[in-house]
Amino acid sequence: MDELLREALGEIAATSTVAILKDVEVRWLGKKGRLTSLLKELGGLPPEERKARGQALNALKQAIEEAVDIRRGEVTRAEAEARAADERIDPTLPGTPVAAGRLHPLTRVVDEVEDVFERMGFHILDYPEAEREAFNFDHLNIPADHPARDTQDTFYLPDGNVLRTHTSPGQVRAMRELTPPFRAIFPGRVYRCEATDASHEHTFHQVEGLMIDRSVSIANMLSSMMTLLEGVFRRKVEVRLRPGFFPFVEPGFELDLRCMVCGGSGCPVCKRSGWVELLPCGLVNPNVIRAGGLDPAHWEGWAFGLGLSRLVMMRYGIDDIRWLMAGDLRFARQF
Ligand code: DAH
Repeated sequence: MDELLREALGEIAATSTVAILKDVEVRWLGKKGRLTSLLKELGGLPPEERKARGQALNALKQAIEEAVDIRRGEVTRAEAEARAADERIDPTLPGTPVAAGRLHPLTRVVDEVEDVFERMGFHILDYPEAEREAFNFDHLNIPADHPARDTQDTFYLPDGNVLRTHTSPGQVRAMRELTPPFRAIFPGRVYRCEATDASHEHTFHQVEGLMIDRSVSIANMLSSMMTLLEGVFRRKVEVRLRPGFFPFVEPGFELDLRCMVCGGSGCPVCKRSGWVELLPCGLVNPNVIRAGGLDPAHWEGWAFGLGLSRLVMMRYGIDDIRWLMAGDLRFARQF
């Protein structure tokens, strides 16, 4: 008995964690533990030996149980202390800097543009960047042999679709989807197979706008454009309309903005002219209304195709369009 007790106490004393102690406890006192099997053997002893041995085994059992309890208290405390020492907070340590994300200037301007138009009752729609050739060109009154196709160098996809060269295909899609009268804008990315330089990029952004009603006017279109520009620049802007040709509008215009960088006195951004070409627009060509499934005898529209990239550059004084898509954090962190 003494030997067994010494052995058990030795094992208990050597434990360093509650989990290890639990193992030792099971090994001695568990259902298949050493002590338990000794107690079971009692039944096979002659009655005169049984009593004394039973008492001795029970005393041993009690001693082991006590030792386990005491040791459990010790290792529990030791573990808690070790954890506390580990987790001690040093309030003099400098904090972990939190990397704050920034919104890309394009995202900011798109948000502002959407805000302005939402307040004027426009839907905000999203159309595919991989577009059917018919929607990118034919439905917009640009047949296959039309020279306007050459001015928009197109990326063709292996499946015969194209990467849209402008957001204008949304005009036809919106007319087919919505019940007139309606107004909507569709911002998005467009692609052209062009050599890049400070003012050309193969991937850039536009916002297309379309209003369809029984009768629309250029005055209404112009006032919406002014609201847009004054909303984005947050001050009075000066604009001028020049005639411009686009197959999908008739009449078509170029809306120029008095240069916001130099105020009109002439600078590199406006190429010393004092004006920046920003917003082509016009009254929707009847052929396009027809392609949209509407009767041009009953429905009219105006449309614009805002050069978003250029607007962002004006707004923030960015002198090279390639910064916008470069993914350079040094650029993004400035906004
Ligand atoms: N889609 C034309 C382009 O990217 C821009 C444009 C011109 C859009 C006139 C229009 C518009 O809606 O009325 O060159």
